Amino acid sequence: MTQGEQIALDNGCTACHGTNGEGGVGPAWRGLYQSEVKLSDGSTVIADEAYLTQSIRDPSAKQVTGFGAMPANSLNDAEVQAVVDFIKSLEK
Ligand code: HEC
Repeated sequence: MTQGEQIALDNGCTACHGTNGEGGVGPAWRGLYQSEVKLSDGSTVIADEAYLTQSIRDPSAKQVTGFGAMPANSLNDAEVQAVVDFIKSLEK
């Protein structure tokens, strides 16, 4: 298991995003990197590194359409980066 995967598991992220990144209460992580995400304000963004980082640091900054709210977390910068790297590795 990579460090990012372990952090996601230890911090309960996988409860909503799936142990294999398949999604659930939260959007799927698999195939997310560089894909187009529709936001609740009607705009779209590309899920690049900056978007993924912001989505974890400040979950309420951008709302994915069709989903509820994501709770805040206490990951530090290194942990956020490790989880972002893990999400990037999850191909469709
Ligand atoms: C209680 C369920 C829940 C937990 C726990 C949770 N999330 Fe989420 N997450 C969501 C929901 C719902 C959304 C979509 C709403 C939004 O954009 O805030 C989301 C959105 C995201 C997105 C953007 C996804 C996209 O398709 O654009 C990322 C990245 C993410 N979460 C990472 C994490 C990480 C990392 C953790 C653990 C620290 C975590 N989440 C914990 C429910 C959760």
